[in-house]
Amino acid sequence: MEYFSNRAESGVQRVAQPTAVEKKKKDPAKRLAKRRFAGFPAMKTLAPRMYRDRVKSLYDGPKGAGLAIASLVSMHSPLVGRMFRRRDFDVTTAQAILDIGSGAGQIIKHLVRCAPENAHIVGIDISHQMLKRARKQIPSHRPVLITADMTHLPFPDETFDVITCGYVLEHLQDPMPGLLEFRRVLKPGGRLLMLVTEDTVPGVWTSRTWKCRTHNRKELHEAFVAAGLPWRDQKWMTPVHRFLKLGGIVFEAEKRELAAS
Ligand SMILES: C[S@@+](CC[C@H](N)C(=O)[O-])C[C@H]1O[C@@H](n2cnc3c(N)ncnc32)[C@H](O)[C@@H]1O
Repeated sequence: MEYFSNRAESGVQRVAQPTAVEKKKKDPAKRLAKRRFAGFPAMKTLAPRMYRDRVKSLYDGPKGAGLAIASLVSMHSPLVGRMFRRRDFDVTTAQAILDIGSGAGQIIKHLVRCAPENAHIVGIDISHQMLKRARKQIPSHRPVLITADMTHLPFPDETFDVITCGYVLEHLQDPMPGLLEFRRVLKPGGRLLMLVTEDTVPGVWTSRTWKCRTHNRKELHEAFVAAGLPWRDQKWMTPVHRFLKLGGIVFEAEKRELAAS
């Protein structure tokens, strides 16, 4: 108080406060933040636990039952399978693989075919119903499927040498708690294959349908670096995906030592 009254007495000219509209216009960071959160609006206001319950009942219900068909339309499941077969993302030497948000088994069913026969494959999802649907799609009883949240993974540190995570991270408002869990359960040098909804027009449409957010490529990259999971490369499922910016942000990341501050 004293500071302000002294300034007033010493004749410092007061600058009129900008109106709310002027503030919005002037502040590019706020404009950008608004754009970044294009997507399911309630995600910003709901407490994380309530939001997670909404997501769980969405996937438990009829929309979740249609997820396998939606994935056929988007073609991402066979294209991820092709990525494994061509070793664009190599799983042929992995001994322990975790698929996060297994959904209807779109990724894990290909892991069963492409990973070594003795590899441990585990899938987790918050929706028990989705895991039951995944079980029907997987051509083997080998993978262990567990109901769990990606921010509280029920595994010891440094358990897995590969993590796959297709269109799941966007169900966290702040990706960092998820990334730190991924890092914790990965062995040193472990690798991740990530597919994430991007803030493009198709991405915003996806986020409305599946009650999630979109991600900005540059900021997502920065978040992974901060979590000690730098990207090895960015991938496109096909040249058409690259040209039309479809399929979201697809990349391989690796667990490295955090740089000393
Ligand atoms: C769009 S589906 C992706 C399915 C599959 N990975 C794919 O590539 O198509 C998202 C899945 O993530 C699950 N999910 C959402 N939030 C989660 C969380 N916090 N922890 C674990 N799974 C989550 C949902 O239940 C749903 O099955």
